[in-house]
Amino acid sequence: MKPKVYVNRLIPEEALKKLAQSCDYRIWEGELAVPRDVLLKEVPGIDALLSLLTDKIDAPIMDAAPKLRVISNMAVGFDNIDVREATRRKIVVCNTPGVLTETTADFAFTLLLAAARRVAEGERNVKEGKWKTWGPMTLLGHDVHHATLGIIGLGRIGAEVAKRAKGFDMKTLYYDSVRRPELEETLGVEFRDLKTLLAESDFVTVHAPLLPETYHLIGEEQFKIMKRTAIVVNTARGPIVDPKALYNALRNHQIAYAALDVTEPEPIPLSDPLLTLNNILIVPHIASASVATRTKMALMAVDNLLAALKGERPTHIVNPEALAG
Ligand code: DGY
Repeated sequence: MKPKVYVNRLIPEEALKKLAQSCDYRIWEGELAVPRDVLLKEVPGIDALLSLLTDKIDAPIMDAAPKLRVISNMAVGFDNIDVREATRRKIVVCNTPGVLTETTADFAFTLLLAAARRVAEGERNVKEGKWKTWGPMTLLGHDVHHATLGIIGLGRIGAEVAKRAKGFDMKTLYYDSVRRPELEETLGVEFRDLKTLLAESDFVTVHAPLLPETYHLIGEEQFKIMKRTAIVVNTARGPIVDPKALYNALRNHQIAYAALDVTEPEPIPLSDPLLTLNNILIVPHIASASVATRTKMALMAVDNLLAALKGERPTHIVNPEALAG
């Protein structure tokens, strides 16, 4: 009998083919996230779950799936999973780091450049027939070259962003819970405490995981410290930036602009006041969305899942403690 797997959404074909070679799988084919009641009905009897960041995988889901041995998340972030609960039950949790690093860093830079040079407003003006002439004072933005970039979280993605900043002759600062002397050396980045980084940076880009310690890490107090010309970019997780404080900071021109790939909540409701502002650019959590990267992420999620089912240690295990004993 092949192991039983539930896949929470359509993922690239190549990965499904690989899964089908050794597992029986069922899949949620809807365009939106699998509804919780559907998931609860699908998981009894499964050995493995291929989940996405849109799916809350918590104790009630695990209760409904007594045979569950592995939760393989097709994302580098795994804040959607109650890892402690999984570990307690010896359920292996896996993620997909590395393969999306450069694609996500490219996109953080895309947002940074687009925000600095007011690309979204320019495009809106053209489509609304507001482009009447070349204007010496029209849509003046901020230079990226030679500006100071502040990276919050110098992990894999943060480090790739720092590499890109070098090409723009930027001065790059970073804040992290640990110092990274080797990266300071190779990337020429300088450590600052959070307050100093916020005060000195022209651009602040967030690349930290969502943890209790990083929830609303950037809020009212932090916006007060930033330059009035500062631009904030978030491609990490929405709740790291307090949305109410961000709205006030943008509306009162305490900072210049924000560019978000992630919001709190997701999707951002149409009634959210942030959507009424002109000095913000919001896109729907697409930083890793290239054909090649999403294929690699899906294949990695399947590889992790298959390894765990074979009783091997998956390469990208989040909770090795689950294998102990
Ligand atoms: C992740 O992997 O955590 C990203 O947010 C989506 O690719």
